[in-house]
Amino acid sequence: MARNPYLPYPARLEETIVENDAKDIKTFRLVFDDPAGAAEFQYLPGQFAELSLPGMGEAPFGIASSPTETGSLLFSVKRTGLFTAELHSLEPGTRLGIRGPMGKPFPWDRMAGKNLLIIGGGFAFTTLRSAVQYVLAPANRSGFGSVLVVYGARTPGELMYRGELAQWQTRDDISVHLTVDKPDEGWTQHVGVVPSVLKALAPRADNALAIVCGPPVMIRFTLLSLAQLGFPDSRVILSLEMRMKCGIGKCGRCNIGNKFVCTDGPVFTREELKTLPVEF
Ligand SMILES: Cc1cc2nc3c(=O)[nH]c(=O)nc-3n(C[C@H](O)[C@H](O)[C@H](O)COP(=O)(O)OP(=O)(O)OC[C@H]3O[C@@H](n4cnc5c(N)ncnc54)[C@H](O)[C@@H]3O)c2cc1C
Ligand code: FES
Repeated sequence: MARNPYLPYPARLEETIVENDAKDIKTFRLVFDDPAGAAEFQYLPGQFAELSLPGMGEAPFGIASSPTETGSLLFSVKRTGLFTAELHSLEPGTRLGIRGPMGKPFPWDRMAGKNLLIIGGGFAFTTLRSAVQYVLAPANRSGFGSVLVVYGARTPGELMYRGELAQWQTRDDISVHLTVDKPDEGWTQHVGVVPSVLKALAPRADNALAIVCGPPVMIRFTLLSLAQLGFPDSRVILSLEMRMKCGIGKCGRCNIGNKFVCTDGPVFTREELKTLPVEF
């Protein structure tokens, strides 16, 4: 019998990692209470889940871990309001609920064999981390061409996953370019906004596909840069973060035109988005 989609999987907070200098982004490692639940929760990078706390409700978050990293799920959460503040105050051992996985993943079937451009800004890098870990997994890496990551933040202290970024930069099967608006004394990498770095790197558009996640202004100018580099809209993938409630296409809270972002998305090609009313 199909699982009730409103029923969360019970889980335990195993570990909390502070991601940025401002300490308002934390990564939460969650472990399912029941290994059968973990086995049932089959996801791909790009999907999200609703996390719930008794008495507080629930909220959607992109899954930051990759399905190739078994045993736990990661969610990186910025403190913005009531629910996220409560999440940030939790101690390891706290029980919470995970409902999902939800939404469509990045189009992995279309990405197979392609050169990948993974472009992120600020704390929207969460599902991109999942994508990078997925591609780099030994069983998957040969299924893709070159991988170029461009990730930017205001300052070096606002970049998430800094240990992993440094580790990816030591590898020869991925090229990782980090950029900041305001460098500090020790910064030796790019300075400037993501779209400018992208233009300077000028990756070839043939046989390539780009995934872009970030704040609206970064997305707007990155799309311009990608168009100038010759990327057709059908090969530019975006992930939307509309307000959501049910996450399963029932409540009508997240629709744009005739699309539900929770079930038709949150991943769309730019080509698809151009057919929708401008509500995002
Ligand atoms: C598919 C999806 C994936 C998401 N992934 C992540 C993630 O990986 N990490 C993360 O930190 N957040 C993510 N979010 C946003 C997250 O759901 C909200 O930040 C959270 O619901 C806020 O709850 P709150 O009670 O703390 O804040 P609220 O009290 O509800 O709101 C506080 C402030 O945040 C703004 N806000 C709330 N929700 C959103 C939203 N969806 N988009 C833009 N602004 C919002 C409000 O306007 C308000 O200014 C995602 C949202 C969606 C829909
Ligand atoms: S969140 Fe309910 S329909 Fe999308």
